[in-house]
Amino acid sequence: MGKLDGKVAIVTGSTSGMGRATAYLFAKEGAKVVVTGRNEARAKEVADKIIADGGEAIYVIADTSDLAAPQKIFDETMKAFGTVDILFNNAGQLSLKPILDLSLEEFQQVMNVNVTSAFLLTKLCAPVMKAKGEGHIINTSSVAGCAAHWGPVAYCTSKHAMNGLTKSMALELGPEIHVNGIQPGAIRTAMLDSVGGEDAMGFMKERSPLHRIGEGEEIATVALFLATKDSSFIDGQLIRVDGGVDI
Ligand SMILES: NC(=O)c1ccc[n+]([C@@H]2O[C@H](COP(=O)([O-])OP(=O)(O)OC[C@H]3O[C@@H](n4cnc5c(N)ncnc54)[C@H](OP(=O)(O)O)[C@@H]3O)[C@@H](O)[C@H]2O)c1
Repeated sequence: MGKLDGKVAIVTGSTSGMGRATAYLFAKEGAKVVVTGRNEARAKEVADKIIADGGEAIYVIADTSDLAAPQKIFDETMKAFGTVDILFNNAGQLSLKPILDLSLEEFQQVMNVNVTSAFLLTKLCAPVMKAKGEGHIINTSSVAGCAAHWGPVAYCTSKHAMNGLTKSMALELGPEIHVNGIQPGAIRTAMLDSVGGEDAMGFMKERSPLHRIGEGEEIATVALFLATKDSSFIDGQLIRVDGGVDI
């Protein structure tokens, strides 16, 4: 018996990285999974693998910088599975521009993908969960939501906003819905590759007692914990999954 048997889970940003690892783990635990992202080939590959392994999945192609995307994700979820039990607001976009070089358009795009789409998708899914008397929402923040670093202004702002959104959602959506966030450190994904990969993250390894970067699967196991009764007395928390940097 799986820990998520009979549950329907939307995992945004599950065409790669930690979202994909979570989609596979949730499906292995019995959930029907909604895979989302912009890249159709990768989305199909993830859904096909889940189905080939005996699970159930659909994929929804949606660019969440477009604020109509959350409605599309929700509608296709309801059409395919008729309900939603777990929402993992995980899609994220990086931006490395310092404030004087950052355009309003880029700032707003990052905020739309990283924060506003999570807010909108939550507004759509929460009433369904409330009516069922149970639901789990997990938001991906970052260690960039704990402190500022020179450069990634929009990204840092969006991840700090995810912390506030997580706490506000927990406060207002309980007791039926549990809401928590994950603050990953350096995790081996396409996003990390885009900033130079493991080699560029030497300083993160040095600051971690574990002396390594993390794997997507090490985020997925925490997401699973937060999506089940195993975390029944944890609410409104941001869990750092960063190998212990800055302790
Ligand atoms: N890797 C790290 O070290 C690290 C650290 C802290 C926090 N995070 C956060 O972890 C989350 C997952 O990132 P990852 O590291 O797993 O990176 P990733 O492998 O690049 O995955 C990012 C996911 O987000 C989706 N996405 C990006 N922009 C999108 C858009 N405009 N519309 C819809 N989907 C979009 C991507 O889908 P498509 O490519 O198909 O559009 C992809 O599935 C993000 O929120 C990120 O900020 C990552």
